[in-house]
Amino acid sequence: MKAVIWMAYGTPDVLEVHDLEEPTPKNHEVLVKIASSAVTTGDCRMRRFDVPSGFWLPARLAFGLFKPRKKITGMDFSGEVVAVGKGVSLFKKGDRVFGTTGVALGANSEYTCIAENKALIKIPDSISHTDAVSLIFGGITALYFLQGKIKQDSKVLINGASGSVGSSAVQVSKNYGAKVTGICSGSNRELVLSIGADKVIDYTNNDFSDNGVVYDVILDTVGNLSYAGCKRSLSKSGKLILINAGLGTIISSLVKKNLICGVALESKELLQEILRLYETKRLKPVIDKVYSLEKIVEAHRYVDEGHKKGNVVLTIE
Ligand SMILES: NC(=O)c1ccc[n+]([C@@H]2O[C@H](COP(=O)([O-])OP(=O)(O)OC[C@H]3O[C@@H](n4cnc5c(N)ncnc54)[C@H](OP(=O)(O)O)[C@@H]3O)[C@@H](O)[C@H]2O)c1
Repeated sequence: MKAVIWMAYGTPDVLEVHDLEEPTPKNHEVLVKIASSAVTTGDCRMRRFDVPSGFWLPARLAFGLFKPRKKITGMDFSGEVVAVGKGVSLFKKGDRVFGTTGVALGANSEYTCIAENKALIKIPDSISHTDAVSLIFGGITALYFLQGKIKQDSKVLINGASGSVGSSAVQVSKNYGAKVTGICSGSNRELVLSIGADKVIDYTNNDFSDNGVVYDVILDTVGNLSYAGCKRSLSKSGKLILINAGLGTIISSLVKKNLICGVALESKELLQEILRLYETKRLKPVIDKVYSLEKIVEAHRYVDEGHKKGNVVLTIE
């Protein structure tokens, strides 16, 4: 099978497409023939080993001290179950599925094995694999951080509203009844309005913290906001969510009740919610570019620029 492998951390040039042996599902695992995968900021940050401050050593110990421990790149996938291991009861051959391997990686490949109890669910025929895979990264992150924090008419500010997490966060917030302001560059204004934002602030000529408006939730996907800088833009019970926080900020969030940091954890429940929102037309895919697996270096270079609109998909057929 064709798969993208990496033998070192570094620039996109460390990625190579190789022919590898197809994996065999172990007990309680399914073998998925992948139709579409994704290139996310998570994949790119892992490739260049760009981890938040204070996490260098723990992340190196987890992912490989001198070189990556996992050979095949990629987390998110959509495809079809083609074989099941012993004891599998939730899936059968022929099921269309989407899911994420998370830090176990292995999704930029023609086939992957994943335990049936991991973040993997069935999808209907009505959703294409390209659309399905594009919903995973931003959808999981937006739901993980925003669920339970937004009420009807809450004022929500999304920094980086045109990206993968941001475009999902705008839609998820609207679904909870929020009044949403998105921050992006002027060229992405129409996109962010088209997915439901009520207002857009162009960060190239406006600073939201200067306009006296307060928000009930501020979600920073970009990594350029701080607690001190946002305090005066938060309502009394307002919450600041920083998804790129370093260790020091994470530690301070243990004592600051209105500061939320951390890492989004994937689950079947979040995938079910993503699918439910998609099927009820409250979460639509935002796809910037689609590359073939062979163009993996190009795809990573594009995502590394930091200005994609929504998501980048890899087709593997
Ligand atoms: N903690 C977690 O669990 C977690 C989970 C997922 C992702 N993340 C992190 O979240 C970050 C965002 O991920 P993503 O996939 O959404 O990124 P992305 O798709 O690359 O989007 C980044 C967006 O930020 C905008 N942007 C760039 N500079 C900006 C600025 N100065 N002010 C406002 N917006 C700006 C860009 O818009 P323009 O093109 O208009 O400039 C772009 O749309 C990544 O660093 C990722 O590692 C963390």
